[in-house]
Amino acid sequence: MTNTVAPHSMSACRDLRTEHLIAPIAIGTERPRFTWIPGGEQRAWELDVEDAAGETVWRAEGTGFPRGPVVYDGTALDANGAYAWRVRSLTSEGWTAWATSTFGVALLRPGDWQAPWVEPAQAGTLIERWTLLDWIRGGGPATPEQDRLRPANLVRQAIEIDRPVVRARLYATARGIYQATVNGVTVGDEVLAPGFDSYLHRVSVQCYDITAALRPGENVIGIAVADGWWTGRIGITGSSAQFGQRTAVAWQAHIDYADGATEVMMLGARARSSAGPWLYADLFVGECYDARKARPGWDAVGFDASDWQPVRVLEDSTHTLVPFTGEPVRRVGEVAPVDVRETDEGALIDFGQVLVGRVRLRLRGLPEGRRITIEHTEVLTADAAWFQNIVGINKEQADVFVSSGEDADYEPAFTFHGFRYARIVGLDALPAPADVRAVVLASDLADAGSFECSDPRLTRLHRNAVWSQRGNFVSIPTDCPQRERAGWTGDMQVFAPAATNNSRVLPFLERWLANVRADQFSDGAVPIFSPWSPVNSDMAATEGGIAAVSRAAGWSDAIALVPWTLYERYGDPRVLEENWPAMLRWIDYQREVARTRVPDRLASTELDPVTRDRQALLYNSDQNFGDWLAPSTLEGRPVHEAIGIAPALTGEYIGPMYQAQTLTVAARAAEILGRPEEAADLAARAAEVRAAFAAEYVDVSGGLPVPLQGLYVLALAFDMIPEDRRRGAAARLAELVRARGDRLDTGFLGTPHLLDVLWETGYRDLARRVLWQSEPPSWLYAVDRGATTMWENWAAIAPDGTPSATSFNHYAFGCVDDWLFRRIAGIRPTAPGYAEVVIEPDLDCGLSWVRAHVDTPRGRIQLAWERGRTLELSLPPGVSGRVRTGDDVVVVHEGTTLVALGLA
Ligand code: BGC
Repeated sequence: MTNTVAPHSMSACRDLRTEHLIAPIAIGTERPRFTWIPGGEQRAWELDVEDAAGETVWRAEGTGFPRGPVVYDGTALDANGAYAWRVRSLTSEGWTAWATSTFGVALLRPGDWQAPWVEPAQAGTLIERWTLLDWIRGGGPATPEQDRLRPANLVRQAIEIDRPVVRARLYATARGIYQATVNGVTVGDEVLAPGFDSYLHRVSVQCYDITAALRPGENVIGIAVADGWWTGRIGITGSSAQFGQRTAVAWQAHIDYADGATEVMMLGARARSSAGPWLYADLFVGECYDARKARPGWDAVGFDASDWQPVRVLEDSTHTLVPFTGEPVRRVGEVAPVDVRETDEGALIDFGQVLVGRVRLRLRGLPEGRRITIEHTEVLTADAAWFQNIVGINKEQADVFVSSGEDADYEPAFTFHGFRYARIVGLDALPAPADVRAVVLASDLADAGSFECSDPRLTRLHRNAVWSQRGNFVSIPTDCPQRERAGWTGDMQVFAPAATNNSRVLPFLERWLANVRADQFSDGAVPIFSPWSPVNSDMAATEGGIAAVSRAAGWSDAIALVPWTLYERYGDPRVLEENWPAMLRWIDYQREVARTRVPDRLASTELDPVTRDRQALLYNSDQNFGDWLAPSTLEGRPVHEAIGIAPALTGEYIGPMYQAQTLTVAARAAEILGRPEEAADLAARAAEVRAAFAAEYVDVSGGLPVPLQGLYVLALAFDMIPEDRRRGAAARLAELVRARGDRLDTGFLGTPHLLDVLWETGYRDLARRVLWQSEPPSWLYAVDRGATTMWENWAAIAPDGTPSATSFNHYAFGCVDDWLFRRIAGIRPTAPGYAEVVIEPDLDCGLSWVRAHVDTPRGRIQLAWERGRTLELSLPPGVSGRVRTGDDVVVVHEGTTLVALGLA
């Protein structure tokens, strides 16, 4: 379905969205949010919502541009209901024509869902528990995958349709990952459904429109289900069965007949199951598809399933089902090879781009039983030989196809990989480039911005961040697509601002935040990644060092900082409202730890009362990751030792700095949510923490206990340094940067604030030199080495071309992409949702031109500047601001389409 705009109404509202999506068919809330972009300056607006019978269920009106979305407040919405809404605005030319859109409602309330969980006949997955130590030591299973992993299963059940159908919806989900079909045809275009959630708290339910797929008489609904995140090998350790040992499926079909009757049918004891052609299918290891075992027509009418097995219908429904919200994972693109060549070990394919997805092969003329193996990697050695950049337990990333002797187009169904190169073994000849494609998988978010400039390296840096965002926004936001695929909270926290420029991330991150909230521990702490399985808690409890960390400053603070970023960029208070209680629980947790514990180094010291009182305010005793991966802390040691250095050196200070920042953000959120007393209290607490921090850790000239850039950066960014000592602290930071040869030495936490802090404390040239630096560690070093995504380590390819065994697709250091939009292009929101902006490009950054745009909730801001010539800007209705170039400031009104200035 798409939005329709009445004809002849050039200025009708457009981009009508419900829950920030265009015409969603199954929203998961009773209070949907409506947004639209008016065709002109909007003086007033009117909106109404109709149910399927054409009855108006809500009418609303207002003046001006609503501050955030308009929230439904009409009669209760029907589960599985269909609604239409329309909106028009009053402009200087009168009322526009109505623009209309639609939305459907999911099964919302307890009781709407009646179907039981149904388990196909299966042997439970083998429980494998690997520790980080196993991983570091290179341990792992001795048995090959085909003996450890198990097949995907097929479940089929017929339903009878005896009257004409006007509307039919299939609600389906799985413990595992599934693909549903009706009469042999796949429903929808989503892959990896139901997506990853913190399954013991939430399992998402998809809704498919199957009206056109049904026919009179018998119909068959089929589901193929594989291990996925539920039983499969996941996370850094590759341990299996982290949520359960057995897969299960459930579906419920809602059929509306032409005669007005409605019927609900569901999967149950009548269903039959069988192992399918996938001998195994694991998200990390890969899948093995034996075409000889395919059962053509298994999911269509007339198939003889008499040798299939009965299913098990489960009594318990303890795992909460929730409507899937946001955009599903889809095939979002295809990449053709840029090179196909013969090697001693097989055909080596280069797709020219590190990406996430899988390889599709056109296979012709293979003999029966021929095994084709597809391996994946992100990088090659200096002399272009195969190099597996991710090794470790259950990290094979290899797919196997066994031919039935018939021609086939094979694309794996129940796995995906991170790669740029594929090695194909088993073909008789080098494949023709046209027979090989990389199919890109990602949560299908709409693009929201672009950045291009006169230096192709900077343009490439931006594109690298975009590709890493795409590759790691697969159902949940992950650190990397090949080694862990975990929803690391810290990574998202630092990348969130950049992410908003590249795609419309609000619904995607709202859903992830629902998982983070579900995973919040009973003591209020927020886990370091989400979804989180109880297996992770067991592991943390038994391991030492940073492997024992389950909550961490800078990571757990995502519960406050990500919602705040989203609020700033989208202007929708719902995200603050939803996360507010969780934010407070995290704050209370920190307060309690501060009150009751001191850092280990002080544990046996008798503290004087003043120090004791100060210490009791500071959240500085929980272990955390510090300024994770700060370059100098990694030098000269084996990686597994080196990664402990930044936590040990900086952890004590990182804790209270984030504590203060989170308190400040929560205070601002309280104001937005109309809680002035809590706002004042939180702000006062933030001030106390800052004062205690300054007294404990900041010396008279602004010096901090450890001479690391990241500490200074965060202390300055989060206002931890008293005003009179800021200059001193900034000067130290500048010295530290210069001492490293104008190079950054910041980790995950310091990096997103480094350039801003240098800029704002008056070291603009230094900020520019760090950005333009091309010796490692630097952003452009990787670009010069041919990077096509963001790397986890700055020098992941050494100057002599030697790659290291690390992630080549890690968006955290891509946080700089936000700087490209805010400072280089110069588009800076100064009010929530870009209601106001400052346009202030860095004309002295060394570029001769920049072109960029951001699709804000109010429409597109488009900007192009050319040094010494012009600046062209177009602002949509509802966005106004100031343009600053040098000392010139020009006020621009909403809807301004062009500002052309003779630039100095
Ligand atoms: C992940 C990170 C994560 C970090 C925390 C790593 O293994 O890949 O991106 O934030 O651990 O320590």
